[in-house]
Amino acid sequence: MNTFPKAESFPASIIQSKIMGPNPLKLCEELLDGHAIEPESVVLDLGSGTGITSCMLAREYGFFTYAIDLWSEPGENMRFFEEMGLSNRSICPVKADATQGLPFATGFFDAVVSIDSYNYFGRDPEYLGTKLLPYIKVDGMLYLAFPGMVHDCHDDLPECLLASWTPEQLDYMHDMSWWRKLISQTGNVEIVSMYQMACTIEAWTDWLACDNDYARNDRAAIEAGALDYLNTIAVVLRRL
Ligand SMILES: C[S@@+](CC[C@H](N)C(=O)[O-])C[C@H]1O[C@@H](n2cnc3c(N)ncnc32)[C@H](O)[C@@H]1O
Repeated sequence: MNTFPKAESFPASIIQSKIMGPNPLKLCEELLDGHAIEPESVVLDLGSGTGITSCMLAREYGFFTYAIDLWSEPGENMRFFEEMGLSNRSICPVKADATQGLPFATGFFDAVVSIDSYNYFGRDPEYLGTKLLPYIKVDGMLYLAFPGMVHDCHDDLPECLLASWTPEQLDYMHDMSWWRKLISQTGNVEIVSMYQMACTIEAWTDWLACDNDYARNDRAAIEAGALDYLNTIAVVLRRL
């Protein structure tokens, strides 16, 4: 996928001020290419951060979107949604801790999209089956994209990765076999596909161009060659 009409419909100044890592709009658009979510579905944007992907899901895809996040403030996110021309008829910010189960009825959501956050809470083998799937309708789709490793190398971490991140931070990243093994332990879910995302380098380039301390911190590793070892993993699941 070479073009991102939905992602690029957002002004660069907003992208630069809102993103918290590799360009989540491009990751989201590639992840949802050919998706199987019906228009006007009720979609959970899990770990939505500032809500920029939630805006794209509501505005560009026409989903009723719940922007659920732990660290961000729902009031601030709602002001941003209103600035982007969205109202509470199409988008709803919620503060919630994904590890505690969600403050919703079981089977509430038609689908889940999660960009650059599932690896924070989804590494617990119990998480998917007990804290997320119950809230998704049977046959509902889950689209996840998060930073990963080409091959797990935690026992012998390359210097380039350590230029920006600690071993503890790198423990949030794993390769596709690790994720497949983890998810395969969960019942009531089918792995539809799992692949390395094509826009990884482009998404990182957009992030490193941002003027904030987090982006500046990440530059050392990427400039030293970290993307030889890191990728972005897309996971598409169906709740059974
Ligand atoms: C790197 S940011 C990505 C944000 C956004 N998805 C994006 O791509 O711009 C990771 C997000 O995961 C969220 N997060 C981490 N742990 C969480 C938890 N236990 N429950 C809900 N959200 C969580 C944080 O609040 C943070 O906004």
